[in-house]
Amino acid sequence: MLISKVGFGTADLAEDAEEAIYTALTHGYKLIDTARAYGSEMAVGKALKKVCSDGSHKREDYIIQTKVTPGVVGYQAVLDDFEQSLSNLGTDYVDVYFIHWPVNRGSEKSYHAENVEIWRAFEYLYESGKVKRLGVCNFLERHLIDILSNCKVKPTVHQLEIHPGYQQIGLVEFSQKLGMDIEAWSPMGRGELKSKTYMDMADRYGCNIGQLAIRWSLQKGYTPLSRSKTKEHIINNRILNFNISEEDMSKIDELNTNTNYLDIWSYKRQQMY
Ligand SMILES: NC(=O)c1ccc[n+]([C@@H]2O[C@H](COP(=O)([O-])OP(=O)(O)OC[C@H]3O[C@@H](n4cnc5c(N)ncnc54)[C@H](OP(=O)(O)O)[C@@H]3O)[C@@H](O)[C@H]2O)c1
Repeated sequence: MLISKVGFGTADLAEDAEEAIYTALTHGYKLIDTARAYGSEMAVGKALKKVCSDGSHKREDYIIQTKVTPGVVGYQAVLDDFEQSLSNLGTDYVDVYFIHWPVNRGSEKSYHAENVEIWRAFEYLYESGKVKRLGVCNFLERHLIDILSNCKVKPTVHQLEIHPGYQQIGLVEFSQKLGMDIEAWSPMGRGELKSKTYMDMADRYGCNIGQLAIRWSLQKGYTPLSRSKTKEHIINNRILNFNISEEDMSKIDELNTNTNYLDIWSYKRQQMY
């Protein structure tokens, strides 16, 4: 199964979630990214039900992916958390199921054994057909090796913060060598990519700064997960009738500052352990 190209992210959409997701589903997006932690699974379920209700779309037309709640550990607890996701989403399978972060609060000393146990539950879900592909988010090389040295079913998708300002080149290459597809979260740098070079380039291509970042991500071979509650952005973020030249791709590559844009504890724990 191929991952469809521009995905729709559903974090931080709050009360606008259902309408925004419905707009995405009816304007060509095939991949919807949610997570237990976002509180948007029910909105995805409602929008999906609505779009499938007249028979013009089917569940199988879409790739629905979600993530186990950070901090839920233990085989049975993960299976229970997954069942709650299925119930929220109103579906009997999930296309891609992820571990959200490698190290969670309170797991600093025990995350290695906990991730291996979580993965055992993931493998059961995969083998029982309730999940089509297994993935991880935000795993550094050492966290990936932990899973790979202890698994029967390998992770095949890696979801990472990737945009021109934070490219994680080494980790991307390492993951790709393991055969993983790369999904880019915050592909537009949360709308904060505003250097003069970058904004001038967007003007030259006749697009906005979000579209330029999404196009860059696609040309790198990633699956960008863009998020928006603005109808015009939702519709236009996947209409990208231009190609970035090799020269301009290189200029965008140079904007890498090697710093993540989201200052959260999950990143600090990821780096420390
Ligand atoms: N696995 C993980 O740990 C993880 C972490 C974070 C995010 N994610 C996933 O990745 C998705 C996207 O990441 P994100 O939400 O952090 O960031 P993002 O998609 O890079 O940025 C969203 C922001 O960009 C704005 N925007 C949308 N289209 C735009 C455009 N064409 N031009 C300028 N600004 C635009 C949006 O405002 P408007 O609403 O006004 O359009 C919103 O404020 C999330 O929703 C989630 O599904 C995963």
